[in-house]
Amino acid sequence: MEDRKIRIGIYPGSFDPITLGHLDIIERSSRLFDILIVGVLVNAAKKPLFLAEERVKMIQSVTSHIDNVRVCSFGGLLVDFAKQEHAEFIVRGLRAVTDFEYELQMAQMNRTMCPGIDTIFLTTDLRYAYLSSSVVKEVASYGGNIDRFIPVSLVPEVMSRCNPISADKKGSQEDKKNEQDRTDHQ
Ligand code: PNS
Repeated sequence: MEDRKIRIGIYPGSFDPITLGHLDIIERSSRLFDILIVGVLVNAAKKPLFLAEERVKMIQSVTSHIDNVRVCSFGGLLVDFAKQEHAEFIVRGLRAVTDFEYELQMAQMNRTMCPGIDTIFLTTDLRYAYLSSSVVKEVASYGGNIDRFIPVSLVPEVMSRCNPISADKKGSQEDKKNEQDRTDHQ
């Protein structure tokens, strides 16, 4: 029997920071490929909250339970990165009709530049249809609770970057509570 070609997909994005919506797309699309590469865009034109290396580490830490997922950063054109990684598929999540026009344009542009690479769209889970990295940052910047929007292990890091004052307050409240718990148990 002929050896089957390894099927590689790329899930590109800014992931600044990764949300539960992104994570859901990673978990679901990882089942479609032998290898799923999460490609973190290094965009010199934008000033992200987290450096690309930080975003890569954050994503690695929350996808470590998925064996076939690799995370790396890329700059330049997505199709060039896909070619370099021998990926034939690009994965994107669609939240709503409002995403569609931009996503369709990007997919068609990418396919025109590189006909061997197809874009596959997964519909975002309804629980996360309203979610984006930008709204998470907005809520966090006002000290709001972001526990339901991003992986819980990343909450302290994102809070301290978006709203250092409230993260400090929360930290010192937790310190006080731990101190109280220790006193109560003495
Ligand atoms: O999560 P985002 O910010 O919506 O992701 C957008 C991303 C990274 C997929 C897109 O900006 C991209 O592919 N950038 C790389 C440059 C590129 O190839 N642009 C041409 C596509 S039309």
